[in-house]
Amino acid sequence: MITTRAPGKLYIAGEYAVVEPGHPAILVAVDRHITVTLTESDGVGCIASSGRRTVTWHREADGTMVMKRHSYVTRAIEVVDRLRAERGIPPLTFDLTIDSELEEGGRKLGLGSSAAVVVAVIEAVTELYGLGLSPIDRIKLAILATVARSPRASGGDIAASTLGGWILYRSPDRAVLARERTVTAAMESAGWQGFDVRALPAPTLDLMVGWTGTPASTQSLVDAVEQAGPADFDAFLADSDRIVHSLAGALESGDHAGVQSAVREARQNLARLQESTGIAIETDRLAALCDIAVAHGAAAKPSGAGGGDCGIALGTFDRGLLSEWESAGIVPLDLHVQEGAA
Ligand code: MEV
Repeated sequence: MITTRAPGKLYIAGEYAVVEPGHPAILVAVDRHITVTLTESDGVGCIASSGRRTVTWHREADGTMVMKRHSYVTRAIEVVDRLRAERGIPPLTFDLTIDSELEEGGRKLGLGSSAAVVVAVIEAVTELYGLGLSPIDRIKLAILATVARSPRASGGDIAASTLGGWILYRSPDRAVLARERTVTAAMESAGWQGFDVRALPAPTLDLMVGWTGTPASTQSLVDAVEQAGPADFDAFLADSDRIVHSLAGALESGDHAGVQSAVREARQNLARLQESTGIAIETDRLAALCDIAVAHGAAAKPSGAGGGDCGIALGTFDRGLLSEWESAGIVPLDLHVQEGAA
């Protein structure tokens, strides 16, 4: 039996910009996890997710897997299976059970559950086959699996979920990766040129997280921003890059005022993107979440694609702030930073 765990994540800065290859974002992993348990089985495999969804699959005589292509889980298994075949390792059949702490009452919290599932499944199946991959290679495999389903996904959540802690991330050119014929070639592709992941020091500021209770679809929001094709998108990208750099610098030098000011600027930059696209990134409830936090001296912004899900506040832990969030219908989430392995 193999058990793996992958944490959820929050975006601190660089959302939407990071979708464009080479543009940076800063994320943090949080201590709520997806847990995957893998056991070998004979003939027919089974994937059971949080006791709700079950997919069965089998292998043909030539070792090919036959399974429903409906989820990130099957994409994750498939990409590892292709690498296994390319390395001449005999196929196995197995059962997976997936348990999630990244939802409440069956509703996703918006903490990157799809990425965490992919990361935990890839870690379990690569371990089963003894592929001996480094964390960076597992990030690469997880990105290949994810973009097979969501071609625009940046992979920032995958990197945070794999490494833990605070990270700076730049996405690869996924269109170039998609053109490679084998997984082995895709892992070595020129598409990784702009890709980068590095650990950042955590600030001593407290991270407070509020859940709006409204699930949002990242893919629909990213597609809608692309379709809106804002005229000032280059200015948005340039501002996002500048903000991410100043946030990274402030984290590295322990400048807490600088961290808070970069977070405030990141919120304003997302608001400009909202204005030029007409897409509700900071919904009314996210605006309330941020405004309450600001009134308590914290810096706050939506996390990730917005449209619902979660918002973050960085400041000094403040029970009054959390109870005002509750009065405004925002659920404070009891979570902390998941320390990185490094
Ligand atoms: C969503 O959590 C963050 C976005 O930048 C999309 C992505 O990075 O794939 C909006």
